[in-house]
Amino acid sequence: MTSHDPNAARPRRFGPSGPLNGRIRVPGDKSISHRSLMFGALAVGETRVTGLLEGEDVMATAAALRAMGATIEREAEGEWRIHGVGVGGLLQPEAPLDMGNSGTSTRLLMGLAASHPITAQFIGDASLSKRPMGRVTEPLSLMGAEFSGITLPLTERGLCPAVPITYRLPVASAQVKSAVLLAGLNTAGITTVIEPVPTRDHTERMLKGFGAELWVEQVDGERVIHIRGEADLRPQTIEVPGDPSSAAFFAVAALIVPGSDLTIENVGLNPTRAGLYQVLRALGGSIEELDARQVGGEPVADLRVRHSALTGIEVDPAIAASMIDEFPVLFVAAALAHGRTVTRGLGELRVKESDRLAAMSAALRLAGAQVEEREDGLVIDGTGGEPLPGTKTGGGKVATHLDHRIAMSMAVAGHASRAGVDVDDTSPIATSFPQFEALLDGATAQ
Ligand code: S3P
Repeated sequence: MTSHDPNAARPRRFGPSGPLNGRIRVPGDKSISHRSLMFGALAVGETRVTGLLEGEDVMATAAALRAMGATIEREAEGEWRIHGVGVGGLLQPEAPLDMGNSGTSTRLLMGLAASHPITAQFIGDASLSKRPMGRVTEPLSLMGAEFSGITLPLTERGLCPAVPITYRLPVASAQVKSAVLLAGLNTAGITTVIEPVPTRDHTERMLKGFGAELWVEQVDGERVIHIRGEADLRPQTIEVPGDPSSAAFFAVAALIVPGSDLTIENVGLNPTRAGLYQVLRALGGSIEELDARQVGGEPVADLRVRHSALTGIEVDPAIAASMIDEFPVLFVAAALAHGRTVTRGLGELRVKESDRLAAMSAALRLAGAQVEEREDGLVIDGTGGEPLPGTKTGGGKVATHLDHRIAMSMAVAGHASRAGVDVDDTSPIATSFPQFEALLDGATAQ
């Protein structure tokens, strides 16, 4: 089951609460988990993964890869074993591939299927069915794949052999970059992606680890990524670090709930992902990195986060790509800061699991925050450290629009409010962070 039944909404009121204390560990990184399964499914032999995120999005990837011939088994919590089919070995799926809520599964798997001689139908939930797929169907069509449309449900017919291309990304998107590189894996010759704005680089790091011939150059300030196709991937043993995007909710909660002193263990801090922590420090947040180390080829540390007086800033749009999923919870931090926080250059937030500028501006206003929504960002005047009023009895609930990050961000806001925050549906949280509510309840109960 990956699609949400709209009749099964789970409303909840969050907070107010006491401080967040103790030590917590967040689940494995979602981006790395998807890629571990996909690359393992293309290697010949057994790939072993520990720390895999067992959220609905990653499970949608697993189910689709099984439907295309890979053997994927769970051995224990977070421990998975994958027997791949080899690059070029994906089989025709017999039924539509249900991507649930997951844009990453959809776009990366479309890339893989593009250079295989298969026809695959992609379906998803109401949120995913609104999201733009033209950004991947366009370059994949140049490689020879055919598509029935630019939103789900759609049918893709791959081409083998496909045609290698050189493609400059028109939007800063790791999913589009990855889709083209993955199509290039099974395409003779060299496929090149030019990335004017660097985005998360897990695909590049991991494909190299699996033995693909992939190299990166800097040309006139742009990243130019080449992959030589018809690669052979070697199976790997992968330890997935904790997800910085999941840790973000707890970091902000600890910063804004008075008296908090929380350590979040094993947080991945790849520089293409860690922008939020830089911005929170610029707001005055106390975030210490302890025991910095490498896990699975990625920089990792434990984060000690203490309640802090925050001050609003203008967020440099150049940092947006390295914290693209963290803006909803940054807006919550800004709502509790002294003074004004201004964000811009965030048009991409309008095409995430929901329109996150509209959804967060409506949600924070409902909780009593002062927010102005602009075309490409929010302007927030904070409370100066005072709790938010919270949602009013009879005033309606925060609308999450099938977006896990709106639900979790507003859960955090509820903990820093006087009356608590009513959220209309917590069920989307299971797409990326099934343990979220239990961890939050545990951290505030000590
Ligand atoms: C992801 C890339 C980002 C991010 C998403 C995961 C990935 O999407 O928002 O949650 O794993 O490649 P875009 O490529 O659309 O920016």
